[in-house]
Amino acid sequence: MKKIVILISGRGLNLAAILEAQHTRAWEANIVHVICNRPEAPGVAVAKKFRVPVTIIDHTSFSNRSLYDQALLQKTRDFEPDLIVLAGYMRILSKDFVHQFSEKLMNIHPSLLPSFPGLNTHRAALKAGVKWHGATVHFVTEDLDVGPIIAQGVVPVMENDTEEALASRVLQIEHLIYPQAIEWFIREQIILEQGNVRVEPAQQQFFMLPTTPEGIIHSNDE
Ligand code: GAR
Repeated sequence: MKKIVILISGRGLNLAAILEAQHTRAWEANIVHVICNRPEAPGVAVAKKFRVPVTIIDHTSFSNRSLYDQALLQKTRDFEPDLIVLAGYMRILSKDFVHQFSEKLMNIHPSLLPSFPGLNTHRAALKAGVKWHGATVHFVTEDLDVGPIIAQGVVPVMENDTEEALASRVLQIEHLIYPQAIEWFIREQIILEQGNVRVEPAQQQFFMLPTTPEGIIHSNDE
């Protein structure tokens, strides 16, 4: 049984999608713990609803960044995880943390990397006038938002889209690709070679939202 620890900072919608998938898809894995750096994060209630133990490590209660980093590393290490999943975890991890869990650390980023790394990705996509946007699941490396790409999901950018409408469309694809990428990891289907990820047996690593027979994309954002 693989052991998974999930790090969150906020709403926990990806966390919920992952926990749902664990229940419905009979993963050979235990989500042993959720760690959250914000006591008021709604994601804490999501973890509790699924009866997953949660530890809050409030970064504001440490006098400096390095003490917080050490506490996070120590707590995570205690669980001896096979995989650490960043699900809306909004702090930059220390180099020590990344090295310690190299190739065992996954993140989801709300853009088609390498486009739009960093924050406010939906605003940046609208400003750039791209016609496709989406999300990326990748392994975490020392540099922000550039690690080996495991899966990507695309969504169209509609005329007159607002940031909120685009964000909610991207979230739908996030909830499809993140559980899938985690499942590949659990089943040891991920091959990482020279910074590139492939899946064995070979599978499509890009995803789109389901469409109706008329080709209309199902969307719950209107
Ligand atoms: C998600 O859109 C995720 O892609 C993004 O934060 C949101 C968290 O939502 N992550 C990042 O921007 C990481 N740099 P959630 O808490 O509802 O899953």
